[in-house]
Amino acid sequence: MLSAVERKIEQFVSDLNDKEVSALYTKLPHGKRLRAKLILKIAGSSLSVVKTAAIVEMIHAASLLHDDVIDDAYTRRNKPSINALYGNKTAIMLGDILYSKGFFELNNISPEISKIVSNAVIQLSLGELKDVSLSKTFNLDKNIYLEMIYQKTASLIEASAGAAAVLAGKPKDAYMTYGRNLGLAFQMIDDLLDITSDSATLGKPALHDFVEGKTTLPYIYLYEELDDAGKTKLRSLHAKVLHENEQAWILEEMREHQIIEKSYFEAKELIDEAIDLMNTHGEEALSGIAKEMIERDF
Ligand code: IPE
Ligand code: IPE
Ligand code: MG
Ligand code: MG
Ligand code: MG
Repeated sequence: MLSAVERKIEQFVSDLNDKEVSALYTKLPHGKRLRAKLILKIAGSSLSVVKTAAIVEMIHAASLLHDDVIDDAYTRRNKPSINALYGNKTAIMLGDILYSKGFFELNNISPEISKIVSNAVIQLSLGELKDVSLSKTFNLDKNIYLEMIYQKTASLIEASAGAAAVLAGKPKDAYMTYGRNLGLAFQMIDDLLDITSDSATLGKPALHDFVEGKTTLPYIYLYEELDDAGKTKLRSLHAKVLHENEQAWILEEMREHQIIEKSYFEAKELIDEAIDLMNTHGEEALSGIAKEMIERDF
């Protein structure tokens, strides 16, 4: 039923009745549609569910348009990003248009769904702002990292699960907890893949987070393990364009101290907890999508 979501998004975009926006939208590849899949999996495929999934994917796309401006990222979903093709101004406005259309359409679902989703977008934006502020420092506080990734990424996935539960008449709180865990694990894996993968596989820049000043979980763990000289060296590389030998040093230290395994384990624990919770609600079918959040290479 993902195709119904795809058609709904296309309809929402064509409703805007603007040739420029329609043309720009064709430059925006689809992505994994994980949030839509999650909603459909929980709530089936009635019209309200399909609309909600379409709205969430539009909002997610808007957040990525802005994120690529924020992160100076020139590829997205294996294509040049909108900011790379047309500049920051166009990317920001297209993001605003998709956000606004999403909020407008939320009004046609229900006040409860509208509140859940729009509140998550407030959190997402606060999280992106926090991510930017933190990247100006060398953050080593794991709790601050967790709070930031909860806001920027987990909040929308939590809201997707919660909204889907409401639409399906299922208990909202349990599904939101499930979504929150999935979202946290999802961003942890995204942060891992930035280190372990290459840009061709990811379809977006690789080894880019640290250059942008982001000390994601693996960097926080690595710093804890390094000796004083290593700590000084890692600090000196923060927020700089890295030479090949500097990149190789980081990767080698990560390997030596089993940082990737340690970070993956943390994401896996959240996923296992989420699966257990859903099993107590007779939702064994929701374990597949939970696993998909972490067992991925892009
Ligand atoms: C990317 O999200 C941004 C993060 C929250 C890590 P996705 O990895 O779901 O992006 P697409 O939609 O599949 O491109
Ligand atoms: C998540 O963070 C972005 C949003 C929540 C919009 P990232 O900046 O890590 O996402 P990618 O890696 O660019 O997809
Ligand atoms: Mg980014
Ligand atoms: Mg970002
Ligand atoms: Mg990332």
